[in-house]
This record gives sequence, C-alpha cells and structure tokens, in this order.
Amino acid sequence: MNIQDIIAKKRDSKNLSKEDIHYFITEYVKGNITDYQAAALVMAIYINGMTDEETTNLTLEMAYSGEVLDLSSIGEIVVDKHSTGGVGDKITLIIMPIIASLGIPVAKMSGRGLGFTGGTIDKLESIPGYNVETTIDDFINNVKKKGISIIGQTGNLAPADKKLYALRDTINCVGSKPLIASSIMSKKIAAGANKIVLDVTVGTGAFMKTKEDAEELSYIMKNIGNLANKETVCVLTNMDEPVGYSVGNVLEIMEVIECLKGNIPEDIKEIILTIGSYIIKLSGNGENLEENRNKIIEQIKNGSALKKFIELVENQGGDISYIHDENKFEKAKYIMEVISTEDGYVQRLDAEKVGVTSVHLGAGREKKEDSIDKTVGIVLNKKISDEVKKGDVLAYVYANDEEKGKQAVKDMLTAYEISKEKPQKQKYIIEVI
Ligand code: URA
Repeated sequence: MNIQDIIAKKRDSKNLSKEDIHYFITEYVKGNITDYQAAALVMAIYINGMTDEETTNLTLEMAYSGEVLDLSSIGEIVVDKHSTGGVGDKITLIIMPIIASLGIPVAKMSGRGLGFTGGTIDKLESIPGYNVETTIDDFINNVKKKGISIIGQTGNLAPADKKLYALRDTINCVGSKPLIASSIMSKKIAAGANKIVLDVTVGTGAFMKTKEDAEELSYIMKNIGNLANKETVCVLTNMDEPVGYSVGNVLEIMEVIECLKGNIPEDIKEIILTIGSYIIKLSGNGENLEENRNKIIEQIKNGSALKKFIELVENQGGDISYIHDENKFEKAKYIMEVISTEDGYVQRLDAEKVGVTSVHLGAGREKKEDSIDKTVGIVLNKKISDEVKKGDVLAYVYANDEEKGKQAVKDMLTAYEISKEKPQKQKYIIEVI
C-alpha cells in the first residue's frame, strides 16, 4: 500500500477502504506521510466527499490514533459539548461554568481558531497566566477538585486530528462534512465522555451555510455517536450574524464575564438555555427541559456561575484580578468607528466577513505558525433588525495597526446591509436533532 495510490483513488472519486484509511492515519501520525501528500488527500476528500462508512472509519482511526481517556473516576455519566465553530462563538465559556456550578462535572478539551472562526483556547489564553496545557492526570484531578477544567487538546489525544486540523486550516479545506464530522467525533470519542451535545452552527458565519447541510452533518455525527455508544444531541444554532456583540479574544472574554454577571444578549441567552438544558438532561440531572432552563437562569442570578468561572481560571493559573476588574485587560491601540451612511434597518450582517476582518486584524491565524494578537477584533453596536440612522456607529474596530484598522472599517461597512424595511427578528435555535 502507498499514499500515492490512496490519493489517486480519492482524486478519481472512488471509495477508500478501511485499510486505506488505517494506513493513511497511522503513517501520517508517524511522520511517514508528508504534509503535502496529506494535503492532496484532504483536498480530494473535500472535493469528492466520503460515504458514511468511510467517514465512520476515518473517525475511528483518528480517535484511536492516540490515547483514549477513561473518565469513569469522574462520574458514571460525563457529558461533553462541542461546537462546529462560528464567529463570536463564546458559548462554551459561558455554559460550562454554569453546568459545573450545578455540580455536574465538566472535563472539556477545546480547540484553537480555525479559518474565519475563533477558538475557545485562544480566548482563554487572553487571561494572563491561564494554562491551557496540562497533563491528562492534572486535567482529571482538576475536574475532581473543582468540578471543571477546560484545556487544549493534549499531545496524545487524537493526534491525527491535531495534525489534520492545522493542515486543513492552511489549505482552506475546513468546510467539509466528512472532515468536520471526523474531526469533532474523533476528539469526543478520545476525550472519554459518554454523552455529547453538539452545537451545529448554520449560516454565513458557520462552515455549514444551509439548514440542509447542517442537518446532514448532524445525522452523520449522531450516527457515529451511536456506533461509539455515546448518546449525541445536535442543536442547530443560527450563525447568520456573530454570536453576541464581540469578536476577538480579549473582547470575547470580557463579554463572557458580562454574561456570567447577568448582562446577556438575547441570542446568547437563548443558545445557552437550550444547549445547557440538554446537557443537564443527558447528565441525568433533570428530565424537564423547562425546569433545566430555570436552573441555568438561577445559577447566573445567584452568582454561582461567575464564581465557578473564577474558580476555573484560578485553578488553571489565571490571574483572577482581570475577572474582577475588566479594565485591567490590555486594549488595542486604535478604536475606530464604523459609521452608517444611511437610515433604515440592519437587513444582513455577514458573519463570515466579520470573522475574516477580525482575522486580518490579527485575531486569528492566516498561516499555521502565526501568533495571534489577543487585543484586536470587532465590537458590534448594531445587529440584524436594529434601527439605524445615518451617522450612527454600526461597530467598533479594535486595531493595533492603523492601516489594518482603516481597511477593517471599510470591510465592516460591506458586512452590513441596511434597508428601509424592518426584517424579521432572527430565530436563534433552528432545530434540535
Ligand atoms: N471544530 C472541530 O473540532 N473540527 C472541525 O473540523 C470544525 C470545528
């Protein structure tokens, strides 16, 4: 068997056998297949797709390419949550402390930014001192001690995904159903939880642009979950505009803190109530979704959610004085206004354009080895269906480079579409599968 033949098979739209996939994953992880050969195969998969059987085989090979965690010492039922990615998507950082504050263990491994979407780990690293790299033993001990730990994907957990994730990002091959399903489900299998809630984002700021594509991706992932004996629920959420108001690492952490204090934008509130109520249900702590929603609201109101977030940050070595006083966070050098040139209502706010603009400012990586600028990004002032007057501020651009900032202001103007008619309010939850 050799990689050239496997690439040729997929290039010519043929199906890969279990053995082909096993060979590709094991040899790629060992370093015997080069990044450019893997890139060719990934591109062929992106273009020609995979059958459900191929996707399942790829997922299992990736899951078992490294260690598979045993979380039974944490609890009989451990629920995990993952998002297919989006712009301004800070849901994990809000919902998981709330869940932990209810006494439900949270052992969460998150990713870095991918394409035009941000990553939870990059956001957490905006808190000075927060350590996202711990050993598996420390990760499990931290969950036992504090009820929560959120870290990056450790070296030997689904290493095949770690390599492929970074590779896909740099060759613009992220938005493919088999590649997303195998990436997410391999990590979820390796991470050891036995119940999974997936936030499957849909819209301009998501990799799945239509409801039909998101449904198909959901069924592929649910099917893999069932085969792996892990009950899986997919919540399809709207990503036609960014989630909340902030996009960019420090800016999003500040919004997370505000949400945990109870200042929650409508879209974030609906998403955390829905996803959170399913996490509570799957964990065996509440069959009634309506009651679960009330529990979540109560944990925010009584301060327990924020307290748990502070415990999490402190336990991971982060400086909690930043949580107590958000003014301590470093600010970008320039804050520039994006001004509306007309009266009307925001008809569209292209989330992908906002994400790309944020990456160009430095909040994400354009190349695998790029470091990111934590302080830059965008704060929206107007969202879809808001009324706008000529001269109003639509958004603020946070930049450290004046030229990049000016360009971002121009790009953000094209992300907004203003029209005379007031559009329908956005539906935040599209479907639960
Ligand atoms: N999140 C992942 O972990 N992988 C993907 O491919 C997309 C989003």
